[in-house]
Amino acid sequence: MNKTTAATLKRLKTEGRPITMVTAYDYPTAKLVDEAGVDVILVGDSLGMVVLGYDSTIPVTLEDMLHHTKAVARGAKQALVVSDLPFLTYHGSFDRTLDACRRLLQEGGAQAVKLEGGQEIAGCIERLTAAGVPVMGHLGLTPQSVYQLGGYKVQGKDEEAAKKIIADAKALEAAGVFAIVLECVPAALAKYISEQIQVPTIGIGAGADCDGQVLVFHDLVGFGSDIQPKFVKQYAQIGRAVVDAVRQYVEEVRQRRFPTDDHSYQADEAVVARLYGG
Ligand code: KIV
Ligand code: NA
Repeated sequence: MNKTTAATLKRLKTEGRPITMVTAYDYPTAKLVDEAGVDVILVGDSLGMVVLGYDSTIPVTLEDMLHHTKAVARGAKQALVVSDLPFLTYHGSFDRTLDACRRLLQEGGAQAVKLEGGQEIAGCIERLTAAGVPVMGHLGLTPQSVYQLGGYKVQGKDEEAAKKIIADAKALEAAGVFAIVLECVPAALAKYISEQIQVPTIGIGAGADCDGQVLVFHDLVGFGSDIQPKFVKQYAQIGRAVVDAVRQYVEEVRQRRFPTDDHSYQADEAVVARLYGG
């Protein structure tokens, strides 16, 4: 099967076929979600919260992103790998942004980067796309601005806020993004934006009428996180299965029921007889 590209996503929108995206932060997860047939794997900076235990995405560094992107890229045979540019790596010098993209694509093995924000970063995105860097946008709830937003809440509810997000989406499209994540916005707003622009929208907490959907892997499989936002659907309870499995292992070791001969290596009988007095 051919590698999914930014162009594939645009074609999916044209054909009215929903795009599927899920996060992954390591090699085995990338392999599994790739095997499951997902179109896009996002190495989200949500890794800061989900696998590093921070309480926001702010502390995530470019080195963190590189480390995880490399692992994911090794496991993703077919899916397009998109990597988040971390907090404050695309608002200062453009050379620094360019170098961050170079590292994620060249060293990390990602095929695209994702940036949070609208009109204020459209100029930066235009220069990146002109340099041949495929860019995914991200509007609505943009977690890197959590200190400014005052928490993780639905965005674009009033008319002024909705108009701003619509204008942002158009600015990102004009700047050359190949897709836009819409996070935690009213379904009607996401539907309207999806109709107004040619590039695909990928929703998370943005209703059913986006051109695609994205979920955090650990939320989707029920692995680790206790907080369940309204927009999450848990398709499995992996965390439960992990606790049950490890609990059983602990019990069997304590009761000397594991390992048995089946899980042990045997010496030659002659050696046993001569050396161990068997
Ligand atoms: O970091 C992330 O997981 C994301 C998705 C929620 C879109 O940016
Ligand atoms: Na992110």
